[in-house]
Amino acid sequence: MNKCILALDFENAIDAVSFLDNFDEPIYVKVGMELFYGSGLQLINEIKNRGHNIFVDLKLHDIPNTVKGAMRNLAKLGVDMVNVHCAGGISMMKAAIEGLEEGKLNKKRPLCIGVTQLTSISQEIMNEELLIKGNITDTVLHYAINAKKAGLDGVVCSVYESKIIHEVCGNDFLTITPGIRLKGDCKDDQKRVATPELAKEEGGDFIVVGRSITRSKNPNKTYIKIENIMRG
Ligand code: C5P
Repeated sequence: MNKCILALDFENAIDAVSFLDNFDEPIYVKVGMELFYGSGLQLINEIKNRGHNIFVDLKLHDIPNTVKGAMRNLAKLGVDMVNVHCAGGISMMKAAIEGLEEGKLNKKRPLCIGVTQLTSISQEIMNEELLIKGNITDTVLHYAINAKKAGLDGVVCSVYESKIIHEVCGNDFLTITPGIRLKGDCKDDQKRVATPELAKEEGGDFIVVGRSITRSKNPNKTYIKIENIMRG
């Protein structure tokens, strides 16, 4: 399975699918809320028919019973990776796994990944607006430990948190890291970016890459280059 997950951040399914025409071989793509809520099932089937792996990034957060039912249906789509907010608590995360187990196709459960703290949440917002005390890295680590206890497969985190999470939760516990830029690329709205080389060095299992690929002159070549870095 590929380690570079391409963020398909397009406004509509037509643009997303025509962008996929750039790729000769199956890749790993991430479909987020905008695309999924706009053209969900049809788009997922089209991407699957082309042989790509799919991460459906919907960041579920609700009561355990509702999350379980939603996950059961997501698993029936035959996607490869889904996610939940760790802030939903351990019983919600356990329910997510139960739902995926019930709905999985061909005995293969989609990987379930926890969202620790969104990159849009600063230390100040976390402490003062959300009234969560302490350091943001400690919170991320604590949420990762909870995710592990609940049986999740890993968490989304920054490249700079990957190592400590592996140290505490074990090397089998996956880290999925966005905020990736090739040397010389524009940072855009990302704050703490890292290169694929650094992500690999820090032990990141999967990286999520959007604009460094979607804006490159040759997206297929850029994807392969990044994938090869991750494979070492
Ligand atoms: O274009 P870029 O590489 O910045 O895209 C990163 C992708 O990863 C986007 O789809 C963004 O929503 C997602 N993401 C992120 N930071 C997180 C979680 C997800 O950038 N903490």
